[in-house]
Amino acid sequence: MSIVSKEEIQNIRNNINIVDLISGYVSLTKRGKNYFGVCPFHDDNNPSMSVSEEKQIYTCFSCGATGNVFNFLMDYEHINFKEALKIAADKAGVNIDIDVTRKEEKENPVYKIYDISNKFFKNNLNTKMGMDAKKYLKDREISDEAIKEFEIGLSLNEKDSLTNLLLKKEFDNENILKSGLVLKNEKGMYDAFYNRIMFPLWDLYGNVVAYSGRDYKNQSTNKYVNTRETDIFKKGELLYNYHRCKNYSRINKKVIVMEGFMDVIKAYDAGVKNVVATMGTAFTNDHVNLIKRLSNEVLLCFDSDDAGVNATISAADILTKNNIVPKIIQIEEGLDPDDYIKKYGKEAFVELTENPTDLIDFKLKHYKKTLDLNSSDGLSKYVNLATQAINKIDDDILIEVSINKLAEESGLDKQFLKSKIVKKDEKKEEAYISSSKPIIKRKYSKYEKAEMNLVYYMLNDVSIIQSYLKKVSCLPSKRFRDLAKHIIIFYKKNNYINEADLITEIEDEEIIKTIGFLNGLNLKKDYAKEEIEDYIKVIEDYNLDYSIELLKRKLKDSRSSSEKAKVAQEIVELKMRRDNND
Ligand code: GTP
Ligand code: MN
Repeated sequence: MSIVSKEEIQNIRNNINIVDLISGYVSLTKRGKNYFGVCPFHDDNNPSMSVSEEKQIYTCFSCGATGNVFNFLMDYEHINFKEALKIAADKAGVNIDIDVTRKEEKENPVYKIYDISNKFFKNNLNTKMGMDAKKYLKDREISDEAIKEFEIGLSLNEKDSLTNLLLKKEFDNENILKSGLVLKNEKGMYDAFYNRIMFPLWDLYGNVVAYSGRDYKNQSTNKYVNTRETDIFKKGELLYNYHRCKNYSRINKKVIVMEGFMDVIKAYDAGVKNVVATMGTAFTNDHVNLIKRLSNEVLLCFDSDDAGVNATISAADILTKNNIVPKIIQIEEGLDPDDYIKKYGKEAFVELTENPTDLIDFKLKHYKKTLDLNSSDGLSKYVNLATQAINKIDDDILIEVSINKLAEESGLDKQFLKSKIVKKDEKKEEAYISSSKPIIKRKYSKYEKAEMNLVYYMLNDVSIIQSYLKKVSCLPSKRFRDLAKHIIIFYKKNNYINEADLITEIEDEEIIKTIGFLNGLNLKKDYAKEEIEDYIKVIEDYNLDYSIELLKRKLKDSRSSSEKAKVAQEIVELKMRRDNND
């Protein structure tokens, strides 16, 4: 791998305007000198993220997220620095030659074990022993292209073929067992999967980290068996097909969520490629955060049985809480997406995905079906559930339409139903109060003010760094002290200072956040020389007081009178310096 030089990195950064980059992901509006948009790194509707064209950094005043183009790409795309550099270089039109393999992948042999097992399983499918499995896939109408794309394979009808292969490749027993692909009992090591069609499961970066193996001969009580959870595989944190969907949902602007990975594969074959699956686990906030990275337009396409409908409603509620109101792709009763495609064909399925149902209609229909509207109890439950659902809508017209429908169905007065709906403005107000946590709130002491100002101006002006080096040895608060240390290291190495380049060299996120914090204080851009001298004096005073305090303690602990005299003398000297400062 070639190493990318610091100059190359700076050159890439200089060739991208952060405003252009971020507007590709978030819509930005110019206000004054800066651009503002809704921060993609926390749940919000308010434009709390500011992007500075001048400084080439972004800062969220609500969650504190801060950084340059590289940080934005890393956090938004869930990628590491090198991958971000590669994307940025492509956008900047700069040619670089880098290997984007992540460090963990290089260092953890379990990834290699998965790589080898994947090749092994895929190959098995194409041997004589794979004939029945191939037939099964054909009967299920899975195309050869999909077999290739989704890297479908086969574990053999032998208890230790993979184990032997891995041992022959000289992996440690410990790592082989850590992969979860090999198990161990008193008789020795043996394959976790045998005689199953193997579906690789990928992590967010596209590495195979587990398998789901399907029984294709009706031999087992378990239709699917998954790799147990390992260091690199946490089922609830993954979405099947995420790394591929990333590319398609960008183009399509939408993401479709399904329950089964078989459904994803069949949808892909039908040409619907912006799809992920939860793989039979409950829908969680982790899933929402991943989906948010893909798109804000979400379509749920779960199975149509009772379990599927309940899963749809709870997933929709979690999404709604996170400001995404999904639409529902309704599959005919008793079918899952795969069955639907089989029964009605690919075009019919594509059409279905293009005509989703509004969440409110889906909910009302479901409540109506499960409750007896002829009984007073059933009707009142229905109206309660329906108004709760309408309350979650953020669109005036849709609210009005829904109330009209509900009035018709329930026979209740429209005005009465309306009184049950919280006004949108009140909702907004509530949302604002709960979501906005301004980072600048409390009053600061004169020492804090001095160090904040000093470090802020150090970020932008070499002469302040030089004054700091001459006169200040240390800052009172750790966060500013740490940042000052990084500024000085950067300056000594590069002989200039620039926030965006400095950020590239800082790995500690807390320190980057401190830069964001300082930018959020809205300190004025220009300053008088005297102001800086003042801040330095305040810090000097603080440091002198602190040293005097330490010496006083030392004086107390001193045993010999000669030592006492020496310490006392030091205190007198420091006090004189302190008095001269005032
Ligand atoms: P097919 O029956 O092959 O069409 O699969 P499906 O996609 O219709 O599966 P289903 O809707 O029954 O389940 C959805 C998801 O739950 C699957 O993709 C699996 O990830 C998971 N799942 C289903 N059955 C099992 C099982 O027996 N064991 C385990 N561990 N997971 C299962
Ligand atoms: Mn199915």
